[in-house]
Amino acid sequence: MDKIQIIGGRKLEGKVTISGAKNAALPLIASAILVDGTCEFHNVPHLMDIESIKRLLEDLGATCSLDEHVMTVDGSGIHKIEAEYDLVRKMRASILVLGPLVARFGHAKVSMPGGCAIGARPVNMHLSGLEALGADIHIDHGYIEARADKLTGSEIYFDNPTVTGTENLMMAAVLATGQTVLRNAAREPEIICLADALNEMGARISGAGSPIITIDGVDKLLPATVTVIPDRIETGTFMVAAAATQGDVCILGGNPEHIGGVSSKLKAAGARIDTQPGEIRVRGGETVQSVDIQTLPYPGFPTDMQAQFMALMSTARGSSMIHESIFENRFIHANELMRMGADISLPKVNLAVVRGVPELQAAPVMASDLRASASLVIAGLMAKGTTVISRVYHMDRGYEAMEDKFSALGANIRRIK
Ligand code: EPU
Repeated sequence: MDKIQIIGGRKLEGKVTISGAKNAALPLIASAILVDGTCEFHNVPHLMDIESIKRLLEDLGATCSLDEHVMTVDGSGIHKIEAEYDLVRKMRASILVLGPLVARFGHAKVSMPGGCAIGARPVNMHLSGLEALGADIHIDHGYIEARADKLTGSEIYFDNPTVTGTENLMMAAVLATGQTVLRNAAREPEIICLADALNEMGARISGAGSPIITIDGVDKLLPATVTVIPDRIETGTFMVAAAATQGDVCILGGNPEHIGGVSSKLKAAGARIDTQPGEIRVRGGETVQSVDIQTLPYPGFPTDMQAQFMALMSTARGSSMIHESIFENRFIHANELMRMGADISLPKVNLAVVRGVPELQAAPVMASDLRASASLVIAGLMAKGTTVISRVYHMDRGYEAMEDKFSALGANIRRIK
């Protein structure tokens, strides 16, 4: 298994270009199931998760190709409605094929995603939403089976905003008879990206980006060409890394509007952030001030940036309270940061108190999930000495060429095969 070795202590300087967003690309690729023809997706990042969804669609009978950053998906050959355990277990987001399969074929069988390192992550709201659209749902031997001759538009209220749940139901409702209204929907930029793509294919969706999304069903969707938005979490990760190393980094291609929650906390921590079209420049202050954060649904501070921010806070002046309100077990990286000398206590399961220490020490550490791996990379860049991070397959799921990008910014980082 590959490892990442970092010799820390260098300031990051230079320019880095942001890749397409994993969490926007995954639902877009799943949406191609709705189309009897070939869709083309631009700015698709090269990641393990993209490979996983590509394999899943190919297993269903779609013809896919990924060349440079352009992915084509021809859904005309789809003949199978079953997403098998071996493919789904590699990536929870595979649940995104459920809505489109029922919508187009009236029947879907998708292996139930299990828990994951960061929380139980149930899919009950995906399923109750599909039931509201008229699908019969059964769970049998670890598989979710959904059937509906024709889905029917309905009012769906989410108990709390779910990102992939909103996406799944948007995709299910586009081919339903009549109107569907999703209330308390997720508002993430990835939702808008998917709605725009579906509208490009002929769907009639309005309100994406707000808590109320209205979908008027249409008879069929047509092939379209769409572009994946830049990855706001990759953008935020480089912003935090720049601040953490007192660096000076120009981030090209990221959308500053998508990362406002992180920018405002970085400014409060002492970083200087200047934005102009297509560019976000982050200059770290000489010292980092501690700030408190609470993760919230968009446009709040993203849970996917919490681990990276905790690494930054570990050498801040003062104490920082980090409240994780989305997932119940998303502090596993705290123990690894403590191995590097961070002073972190967890008075509650969803609350971390980080008391800044003068510096982190390099150590062998282990990544537990995708964003934890980014947190440990940032910690390794801050620490003096050689840090070796194992289980970097987590990082490869969601960060494109991460070590090459950090290396180009002057970091001493390399992959050990
Ligand atoms: N939830 C339920 N029932 C449901 C669905 C969700 O209780 O049916 C709960 C979850 O357990 C969680 C909360 O609702 O407590 C929000 O979860 P959400 O459904 O929004 O998460 P998700 O759609 O499974 C996406 C991203 C995650 C990101 C979260 C939150 C994708 C493919 N994944 O997950 O990304 O953390 O939204 O923003 O879009 C990552 O990229 O590292 C990652 C984990």
